[in-house]
Amino acid sequence: MRNLVLIGFMGTGKSTVGRLCARRLGLRFRDSDTLVERRARKTVAAIFAEDGEAAFRAQETSAIRTLAGQGPLVLSTGGGVVLKQENVDILRRTGFVVLLRAGADVILARTSGRESRPLLTGAADPAERVVTLLREREAAYCRAAHAIVDTTGLTREEVVARVLDLYGAVCEQSSGASDEVDSGAS
Ligand code: S3P
Repeated sequence: MRNLVLIGFMGTGKSTVGRLCARRLGLRFRDSDTLVERRARKTVAAIFAEDGEAAFRAQETSAIRTLAGQGPLVLSTGGGVVLKQENVDILRRTGFVVLLRAGADVILARTSGRESRPLLTGAADPAERVVTLLREREAAYCRAAHAIVDTTGLTREEVVARVLDLYGAVCEQSSGASDEVDSGAS
């Protein structure tokens, strides 16, 4: 069974939706930022401030590698995970990758307590920063995703339902495929 992986910009609801999906599926929920923080014994914001973004990205890849291999689970990732092809390759190989999309206005509102989001904390104009980062990352998000859920106008429950539908269809397909292989072999 493949992992269910949620990717997307900060504030698109990956952790909340991921936790709910995991509960429904009876799978474990893991968050790559949480594993990075646990290993480093400091927050993501402190890692950025004290060690720099490159150090964070290296720790993030290590966390992705560990978690991707512990499946089946639901994995919520940091918003910048798609910046490294290595992460994308691991996630796509081991999981079904769903991109959660939200508009810049929603993202800004959801990330308004920005101290835990180092990429937005120092920005003179956070709105502009969000728009710029979204634009820069859009293609990478789309390339990394097997499926996309636009969360605009949807309740959290509706987002969860869409993600689970997509994941369910893929799991069904692949179990059908292995049934065929099984029956063919016997
Ligand atoms: C980041 C997003 C954050 C965290 C780090 C970098 C990014 O995760 O990994 O601050 O580059 O977009 P969330 O998307 O969970 O906020």
